[in-house]
Order: sequence, then structure tokens, then C-alpha cells
Amino acid sequence: MKILRKILLALLVVFVLIQFYRPEKNEAPYRDVASFEADTKPTPEIKTILENKCYDCHSNKTEYPWYSEIAPMSYIIADHVEEGNEHFNVSAWDSYDTKKRDHKLDELIEEVEEGEMPEKGYQLLHGGFSEEEKEALIAWTRKVREQYQVSN
Ligand code: HEC
Repeated sequence: MKILRKILLALLVVFVLIQFYRPEKNEAPYRDVASFEADTKPTPEIKTILENKCYDCHSNKTEYPWYSEIAPMSYIIADHVEEGNEHFNVSAWDSYDTKKRDHKLDELIEEVEEGEMPEKGYQLLHGGFSEEEKEALIAWTRKVREQYQVSN
């Protein structure tokens, strides 16, 4: 018993200590999706899907849930947001050339088809896709890609 109490106390101390370090947040004053949406023209339905399921990790502004204040969740979330934006950031759409845009949307279809995006943990906490949403998002993305084939 004594050793168990010591371990629990040590864990508690660690838990308290890690609260003092706060990872940097992804919080621009507003979510910059204007050039992405001007280019890809999402319907209101698609816009809602992207806003609710994707932009938290793929734009310059994350809507943080309350539990993101608590370590170690704060670290995990910061890590996913950073990595997500490294791969695909709609707020940096202007800096992507046509080839890169097309490639990212190709990846998007693949990730969504395979159920890889939104990330599993995010799906657990925020809810996943309905079949209709998934199909609508894929159909819309295919359409946007056609526009790039023409201009290539
Ligand atoms: C919780 C954060 C999170 C959410 C929410 C999220 N993603 Fe991601 N996304 C990531 C991370 C991390 C990566 C990089 C690692 C990987 O590819 O699995 C990524 C990678 C990607 C890539 C790039 C793949 C590549 O190889 O370039 C695309 C495209 C993508 N996500 C689309 C989406 C779409 C579409 C949604 C919404 C339906 C979404 N993501 C929601 C975190 C997220």
C-alpha cells in the first residue's frame, strides 16, 4: 500500500508540474479561409463540414475546447494542430501553386475515403462523418480538382 501511495503522489506531482508549461496556441485574430474558399467555392453544406471537422487543424485558427487547457491534452492537441497545418493549411492556400493544390485535394479524398480524416481522436470527441457528409465532401473535392486539370 505504501508504495502505491508513493507512486500516486509522484504522479500527482508530475501532473501538477506539467500544468505550468503551456504550448503555444494556433490563434490568429480570425480564421483566414477567404482565398481557399474563393478558389474552391464550397457550398454552404461543405463549408459547414470543413468548419466543423477540418479547420481546427488545417487553418490559422483553432477553436480550443475546455480540455485543451489541461496537460497532457494541451500538448497532444498542440502537436496535432502543428503537424496538420504543416501538411495542409487552407490559410496558406495562396502560397500553394496549382500542382500543390491539386495534390492536397487528391490527398484529401484519400484520407476521407479511408476514414483517416478527421483524425481518430478528434472523431471520438467531436463526432465523425455521416455517409452523406463523406460522399458530399468527396464529390465536391473531385469537382474542384477538375478545375485544376483544365488550367494545368
Ligand atoms: C485533430 C487534428 C486534425 C483534424 C481535425 C483534421 N486533420 Fe487532417 N491532418 C492532421 C495531421 C496531424 C496530419 C498529418 C499526418 C497525417 O497525414 O496523418 C493531417 C494531414 C491531412 C492532409 C494531408 C495529407 C498529406 O499527405 O499531405 C489532408 C489533405 C487532411 N489532413 C485533410 C483533412 C480533412 C479534409 C479534415 C476534415 C474532414 C481533416 N484533415 C481534419 C490533423 C487533423
